Amino acid sequence: SAPLPPAGDLLAWYDRHRRTLPWRAGPRDPYRIWLSEVMLQQTTVAAVAPRWLRFLARFPTVEALAAAPWEDVTEEWAGLGYYARARNLHACARAVVARGGFPDTVEELRALPGIGAYTAAAVASIAFGRPVVPLDGNVERVTARVMAVEEPLPGARPRLAALAQGWMEQAAARARPADFTQALFDLGATLCVPRNPACAICPWQAGCEGRRTGLAPTLPRKAPK
Ligand code: ADE
Repeated sequence: SAPLPPAGDLLAWYDRHRRTLPWRAGPRDPYRIWLSEVMLQQTTVAAVAPRWLRFLARFPTVEALAAAPWEDVTEEWAGLGYYARARNLHACARAVVARGGFPDTVEELRALPGIGAYTAAAVASIAFGRPVVPLDGNVERVTARVMAVEEPLPGARPRLAALAQGWMEQAAARARPADFTQALFDLGATLCVPRNPACAICPWQAGCEGRRTGLAPTLPRKAPK
């Protein structure tokens, strides 16, 4: 199959076009990154930004969140959806404080309440610089298109994960894992969007199999339910 386009080309684009998001400013604190990733799983970036800032103003540290009464946490979570998610958030904060801080590996992060494969990889790469790619809808779409993966989701997921991880094995990405992960998110959110992808201005257009074959806008495919 076709080679992966260079990770360095995406990073160069990211250096020029990265979105300004509140969790990208300030210290690279795992608590702040974890909170943003949990919120972003159910809510858009635009809606999360003000809520993330407000949540942090009320609970500035994982210790503050762990010590807060459950009523205060649900109150602050109101409108963000899913009672279970707020419960896991609180339980996770307490587990983190009990063990003396956030762990810095995917395996240990995954063992925490409410942290699945996606969140573990996102926190490991963005907060701790571990060379792992979190597979979300954006990363699935970008990878399926660039590599022209026609196998439908969800079956294609392991293959897409392995391909995306291949970029992270390139030296340019391994030097900047947090930026590479966020560059994939930004490409999927701003150019490689579900409808009418902006292929003409994409940093990966030259090596994109989806573009070459004309399949890009139809990918990823989804298995009928
Ligand atoms: N979507 C999920 N995580 C994100 C992040 N850290 N930045 C932008 N979009 C995201």
